[in-house]
Amino acid sequence: MAEKTWVRMVTAQTPTNIAVIKYWGKRDETLILPVNDSISVTLDPAHLCTITTVAVSPSFDQDRMWLNGKEISLSGGRYQNCLREIRARACEVEDKEKGIKIAKNDWEKLHVHVASYNNFPTAAGLASSAAGFACLVFALAKLMKAKEDNSELSAIARQGSGSACRSLFGGFVKWIMGKAEDGSDSLAVQLVDEKHWDELVIIIAVVSSRQKETSSTTGMRDSVETSLLLQHRAKEVVPKRIKQMEEAIKNRDFGSFAQLTCADSNQFHAVCLDTCPPIFYMNDTSHRIISCVEKWNCSEGTPQVAYTFDAGPNAVLIAHNRKAATQLIQKLLFCFPPSSDADLNSYVIGDKSILKDAGIEDIEDVEALPPPPEIKDAQRCKGDVSYFICTKPGRGPDLLSDESLALLHPETGLPK
Ligand code: DP6
Repeated sequence: MAEKTWVRMVTAQTPTNIAVIKYWGKRDETLILPVNDSISVTLDPAHLCTITTVAVSPSFDQDRMWLNGKEISLSGGRYQNCLREIRARACEVEDKEKGIKIAKNDWEKLHVHVASYNNFPTAAGLASSAAGFACLVFALAKLMKAKEDNSELSAIARQGSGSACRSLFGGFVKWIMGKAEDGSDSLAVQLVDEKHWDELVIIIAVVSSRQKETSSTTGMRDSVETSLLLQHRAKEVVPKRIKQMEEAIKNRDFGSFAQLTCADSNQFHAVCLDTCPPIFYMNDTSHRIISCVEKWNCSEGTPQVAYTFDAGPNAVLIAHNRKAATQLIQKLLFCFPPSSDADLNSYVIGDKSILKDAGIEDIEDVEALPPPPEIKDAQRCKGDVSYFICTKPGRGPDLLSDESLALLHPETGLPK
């Protein structure tokens, strides 16, 4: 009986990512194969990541998963596909100290427990499924000693959620759409790591929204079925943009990078409008943020900041460097001050050193900010932004060896 009681666990952390050339539209719904290549920047896991603990034990009688402490069902096709693919690649595992010996074929019969947690509010609509599926696949691969590299693992994470495949790397990442019918060549590769362009600063405006948005999966299905602009985009526009974007990233050419990023976000939202029925992801606040950035970039003569929006109203703003980021946060806080009952400490989260550089320490400093000179009659819209996250490009997945960070109990394999 004694050998029946062991639990083997692995804990990993995986970043989220934001696309600068968007994935929108599938050519295969089950395998999740896209209609075009896409490129993303990985966000610093210190501010936005998923932590996942996976465990295996002969005492588990079914696969189970807990997300942010609540049990969720693993019966969905996407989870099942990831679990099946990773199990098929499992290898022999032996831990003499703990008396664990798992033969390759044993993995089919053994069950796993998964506990996952996002270090940012799931409700904020910040690509939690990307980091989540990437972390699930990465952690299971380590638990099962799969020999596949991160690109090969990305092709499995892709079957959980398309954008997840790009979270297997840090820095700038390209998801190659591939040609093969079985999806084997539809995977992510790293273009450059996070050190290549480390002066970039990212500020996310989490925009308050009352309405529940159309999910990406449903939205892109409708676009594929009804939008002619989507077909033109996938065939004519994106292939050229991908090449230009790769060049801009390689040369750290911020002007081209910003122009391409903004144009691609705007075209993605134009495709959404071209869909029947039309999909509205951005709201008035999103539009005001775009206008604020466009006016500033225009007045400077060269772009200082790029903006991009996913399937929701939140703005992801990428500033050229710290100086631009400092000016940006001043302009943003002038236009979107916290509502009267909020405190600055919870209104600007993440890397607070940007606030310090901007000379903003308390609410009085926010109230004293001058209006951005390039915006005529600049209005102050209290409460339209829920909060800001200051971050930067970040690294890819990591194993967390510190056992105290595990989300499952080392003896029972149940949530702590
Ligand atoms: C707008 O990856 O969430 O964020 O593959 O159906 O799970 P599924 O969709 P998902 O779509 C992401 C769309 C996007 C653009 C992007 O990340 O490239």
